[in-house]
Amino acid sequence: MPNVSIVVGAQWGDEGKGKWVDIFARQSDLVVRFQGGNNAGHTLFIDGKKIVLHQIPSGIFHKNTKAALAAGVVVNPVQLVEELEGVQKTADLSPERLWLSARAQVITPWHIHLDSKKEAGSDAPIGTTKRGIGPTYAEKASRTGIRLGHYVNAGRRRDWIQTMEKHNSEFAEHIKSHAAEWELFHNAAEKIGPYVTDAEGQIRKAIAAGQRVLMEGAQGALLDIDHGTFPFVTSSSTMAGGALASIGFSAKKVSNVYGIAKAYVTRVGEGPFPSELFDEDGEKLAKEGHEFGATTGRPRRCGWLDAVALKYSYHANGCDGLILNKMDILDHFDEIKICVAYEHPEQGTLTEFPWDPYTAAECKPVYETLKGWKSTLPKRGHFSDLAPNALQYVKRVEELIDGHVVMIGTGVNRENAIFKS
Ligand code: IMP
Repeated sequence: MPNVSIVVGAQWGDEGKGKWVDIFARQSDLVVRFQGGNNAGHTLFIDGKKIVLHQIPSGIFHKNTKAALAAGVVVNPVQLVEELEGVQKTADLSPERLWLSARAQVITPWHIHLDSKKEAGSDAPIGTTKRGIGPTYAEKASRTGIRLGHYVNAGRRRDWIQTMEKHNSEFAEHIKSHAAEWELFHNAAEKIGPYVTDAEGQIRKAIAAGQRVLMEGAQGALLDIDHGTFPFVTSSSTMAGGALASIGFSAKKVSNVYGIAKAYVTRVGEGPFPSELFDEDGEKLAKEGHEFGATTGRPRRCGWLDAVALKYSYHANGCDGLILNKMDILDHFDEIKICVAYEHPEQGTLTEFPWDPYTAAECKPVYETLKGWKSTLPKRGHFSDLAPNALQYVKRVEELIDGHVVMIGTGVNRENAIFKS
């Protein structure tokens, strides 16, 4: 009986995946992060201690759950060591419980430098997290990057650096002028070494043994390198299919795909956002929803739920169900809007999410207005416990995206979840 679930962001990231992954992880034997790097981030409070994780799946805090980073991830070793040390304070960490893919690519100080340099020199910056994500994936594609398995081998690491120095004088200069950063980079290798393994092989064995495996996506579908609003995207495959490519296993083993969306929309960085608000409602969403990035601290752009984009993302991911998160943030609005179509100055009314981000940027949202429920949503329970207007909102979302809402988030704690049945 296949028992593999994939959980992905269905918008532009920051949908609050951390909380839901934590809920699912409790019932999982293994949690796998399959793409992205330390551009993601979520904050956890364990025994009153604040822990920010950027790379290690939070499932590591459940003592019977193992965690893995698969081949499609890019790893910042220096930050990973910090995370490992943080996790070790509260959880029992061993190479049996944490598998780091030898195939994953490594983010070096050089890649971080390139990311900042490219953004600063660009006429149309993307608003990246400046964590070196794009340059690391670019070097993977051009086959000049370094994999984690080679990084933890001192000889291979030295060979890679020498080759880079030989062919790239700017790289050689960077090594000389940023010696302290490179020293940290080298020092991290020894600490990470014991965890580096053929993670994909072990994950396949776990699946074959019938273990419950949760695959955790970072960022969101609309930031996908192929299916997102390119070029205003991240550099990896953020959608459910990305898990298959990253890990290498049979698609027939996937039992469930869940998309997570906020009951409104946020975006950080540049790029089209048709339902973006620049008024008091937008400010209210930002304030009530505490919309500041966990990784960069940047304020997030806010807007009403965009059903055009969400329908696209739901079906492109092959979702079996949608988790509608942070619905409580809408508790005190008299009226709640949903973007049901776009109006383009030349192309007229669009009901499908356009492939072209410049078209999307030229669109005005067409809204449908629903009455607010003007009450505090229950913190737990079932859909039948929802106020009539709140239930109406959920049903309308289901109709508009031609899909199912299966769970609703109504608070920051993992207990704050409302289930369909
Ligand atoms: P990069 O991933 O740092 O290259 O940034 C590319 C785009 O993805 C920028 O618009 C970022 O703001 C966005 N992005 C990257 N990671 C996240 C995330 O975890 N949440 C939301 N947006 C993200």
